[in-house]
Amino acid sequence: MDGTNEKQPSYEFIADNVINNDNSAVYLSKQTIEGSGLSPGSTVIIKGIKSHQTMCYVLAGDSCPDGHIQMNGVIQNNLHICCNGATTVTIYPRIAPRGTCIYVSPVTAPGVVNILIKANLQQYFENRRRPVRIGDVFTVGAGAGVGHIEFQVIETEPRPYCLVVHDTVIHCSNPINHDEVEVSLGEIDYDDICGLESVKRELKELVEYRIKFSEKFLKFDTPPSRGVLLYGPPGCGKTLLAKAVANECHVKFFSIKGPELLTMQSGTFGANVRDAFRKARQAAPCVLFFDELDAIAKARSGSGSASDGGGPADRIFNQILTEMDGMGSMKNVFIIGATNRPDIIDPDILRSGRLDELIYVPLPNDQLRLVILKSAIRQSFTAKDDDLAVLVSGTKDYSGANLVEICQRACKLTIKKLIRKETNLDEERQHSGEAPMELGESDPVPEISLDHLKEALEIAGRFVNKTNRDIYENFETLQQSGSANSGRI
Ligand SMILES: Nc1ncnc2c1ncn2[C@@H]1O[C@H](COP(=O)(O)OP(=O)(O)OP(=O)(O)O)[C@@H](O)[C@H]1O
Ligand SMILES: [Mg+2]
Repeated sequence: MDGTNEKQPSYEFIADNVINNDNSAVYLSKQTIEGSGLSPGSTVIIKGIKSHQTMCYVLAGDSCPDGHIQMNGVIQNNLHICCNGATTVTIYPRIAPRGTCIYVSPVTAPGVVNILIKANLQQYFENRRRPVRIGDVFTVGAGAGVGHIEFQVIETEPRPYCLVVHDTVIHCSNPINHDEVEVSLGEIDYDDICGLESVKRELKELVEYRIKFSEKFLKFDTPPSRGVLLYGPPGCGKTLLAKAVANECHVKFFSIKGPELLTMQSGTFGANVRDAFRKARQAAPCVLFFDELDAIAKARSGSGSASDGGGPADRIFNQILTEMDGMGSMKNVFIIGATNRPDIIDPDILRSGRLDELIYVPLPNDQLRLVILKSAIRQSFTAKDDDLAVLVSGTKDYSGANLVEICQRACKLTIKKLIRKETNLDEERQHSGEAPMELGESDPVPEISLDHLKEALEIAGRFVNKTNRDIYENFETLQQSGSANSGRI
């Protein structure tokens, strides 16, 4: 992948500082260039401390002694080195492919990228055939009064390095802002989710195994799970669980909805997925959540019939698989997918090293439905336990979301009734010549009656039908017999 570990020639040199503005060139003596089979202008990968690398072209430096390489401070920074006469770097001659596009983002820009900055960026690359590598930081003069701006190369196509030529498209985004996709911690935690205790425990363990105990697994040569697919009927808490587990494990949370990826501008599908993974890698440890995964992870051509036959969804899905596979075992990013259509999900995403665990989030049973109803009513209304128990017995196949909705409707009906009662009372007082009631004079804590709950239940109708329940139960049975993973959904 990085182009430095193949069995091709490499050369080690002592790194020397040179003061100039050229962030793309390193200098070798004329003899060294010839002896290494290079020529002025050849591109090379340079490896500094640990795995830090960059790509430059070589030029002949009149003042450069044999066995030395000269580079400016920007290149030294990319290699994480400081030239002190004893630092060595290794170079690997590599031909840089022509880039179709690169993505850069300002690191030190004052807020938003303006036209002037974009123009300077364009000028920086113009007619220079500069090689760039993902991760490179470079400086661009931003004009009078603004000084220099540092940019970072976020992505290259092809990756991980390329030559920026006249038709390479340079995408410049605003400064990286994690808040765009990050859900702030502290929003939802496990206490907000009624019941589902075993699901909560299992999910938390899986996230912790990767985030906290990865090394322990790797000691035994077994990577911890990369991710999990939460599946089950709509409205049963999958999205809530994903948000809450990040909070429980004190890690950041990135969320992307499958349908949103599809509505993004054509041509940027792959880049959007890459961007999400890049942000997650940068913010690790974190949870990366793909909600409503079925919108993009339908069985593809060849493995099923529901895909969009090589269209945007397939491209996005393939990119997700590529990114998952390229994550490397140590990156503590845990991926959660959620779907209420496990029957159409492409089994490729359930393979080892991807979403290789499955957790069923079922419809609530009698007991849990009562707890959810009580917790939803708790806010500002009272209701008799007996009334709730009667109601719950008639809500088999209802999801948590359905129950919350019923409560909300019942609350509205109760409020309506109270307002009507007060208005009538007011009218009666006016007729009898009494002073109108003061605002809030007769505001008792409203009590939801069984009648209101029943009325709300009728309006809400039956959302989850028997057929749906069968889909999940059949899928779960298949999982337990180990056949869904092998593509026989
Ligand atoms: N166990 C639960 N405890 C408390 N509230 C719940 C529970 N299950 C569902 N709810 C309620 O249902 C709403 C919807 O839940 P959520 O969005 O997590 O469902 P989902 O499984 O992701 O559904 P979908 O498949 O449609 O995306 C929540 O906002 C919450 O009000
Ligand atoms: Mg959801």
